[in-house]
Amino acid sequence: MTERVAVITGANTGIGYHTAAQLARRGYTVVMACRSRERADEARARLLAEVPGTQALVIRLDLAEPGSIQAFRREFDDRLGVLDLLINNAGIVGVPLTRNSVGHELQLATNYLGPFALTAALLPSFRPDTPTRIVNVGSLAHRVAALRLDDFNWERRRYEPFRAYARSKLAMLAFTLELSRRLRRRGSDITALCAHPGFAATEIGRYNRLTNPRNPVGRWINERLRARIATPQEASMPTVHAACAEDVRGGDYFGPGGWLEIGGPPAPAKLNPAARDEALARRLWELSQAMTGVRLLADDPPQ
Ligand SMILES: NC(=O)c1ccc[n+]([C@@H]2O[C@H](COP(=O)([O-])OP(=O)(O)OC[C@H]3O[C@@H](n4cnc5c(N)ncnc54)[C@H](OP(=O)(O)O)[C@@H]3O)[C@@H](O)[C@H]2O)c1
Repeated sequence: MTERVAVITGANTGIGYHTAAQLARRGYTVVMACRSRERADEARARLLAEVPGTQALVIRLDLAEPGSIQAFRREFDDRLGVLDLLINNAGIVGVPLTRNSVGHELQLATNYLGPFALTAALLPSFRPDTPTRIVNVGSLAHRVAALRLDDFNWERRRYEPFRAYARSKLAMLAFTLELSRRLRRRGSDITALCAHPGFAATEIGRYNRLTNPRNPVGRWINERLRARIATPQEASMPTVHAACAEDVRGGDYFGPGGWLEIGGPPAPAKLNPAARDEALARRLWELSQAMTGVRLLADDPPQ
């Protein structure tokens, strides 16, 4: 049997950790692509204890830094070289205005431009002549966003942390649908699709004073929330479904199937119509290539 390899970004905690654990249980070799070596090593030890016999590797990746993405690709090529499943899970929410080393706003860099560049870097490594997948993690928040490409990098308008998060997730979903169309036109064996977790009490609130579980108010809020919303493991199920279910198609989008898609078993989820706008997605693609300096399936014939 061929060993199947999955790369999961942000696999050291929260939904990413539980996604990695579910894939390990299904026999995948899991590559934990994480920005903190120490946190990743601890998570790997936990994973090996929970799922004995797992093949799990840590490769350092800071999605917000273009140099780190290239270093990740080189190490991945040296250590594994072949990939069956990429899960772009890592994300940050609601950080104050911060920019990476090349001037990109940090939520945009982490939640969208980094995954765009990582997808481009890993595309040549997907196992040939075999069905393989890319699963991109979105958010319910994308439904209230607008894809403003005229100030995509928050240079002119007043920065609003939640709006920036929601927009980065809408970009992720529009990108995924366009990726799926481009892969399909090429007759690729790679299926690109997306999922969102609903709500779960993870460490995602750590950048906001009110929701940071490490301070007293945040702890109080998180304890109350934890009793009412999905566990990180439950919240990983839409991603795992997108990664593993047989009856999926490129461009599908899954989330929890319960009330308002907040929790429940995986089911098709509602997309912001802007994510289906093909002309907008092509402009987004051009802009993403220009901003990252990375070309991704760029030799498509003109539309
Ligand atoms: N929890 C929710 O209710 C919820 C709702 C909607 C969508 N989501 C989405 O679900 C995904 C997982 O979130 P979560 O709730 O599991 O959050 P989490 O507990 O905060 O985990 C986020 C993960 O992303 C990693 N990460 C952050 N910045 C990174 C970077 N620059 N490079 C590499 N890794 C980075 C974190 O690493 P460190 O531990 O080193 O910081 C961590 O492993 C995110 O995309 C999030 O937007 C979550």
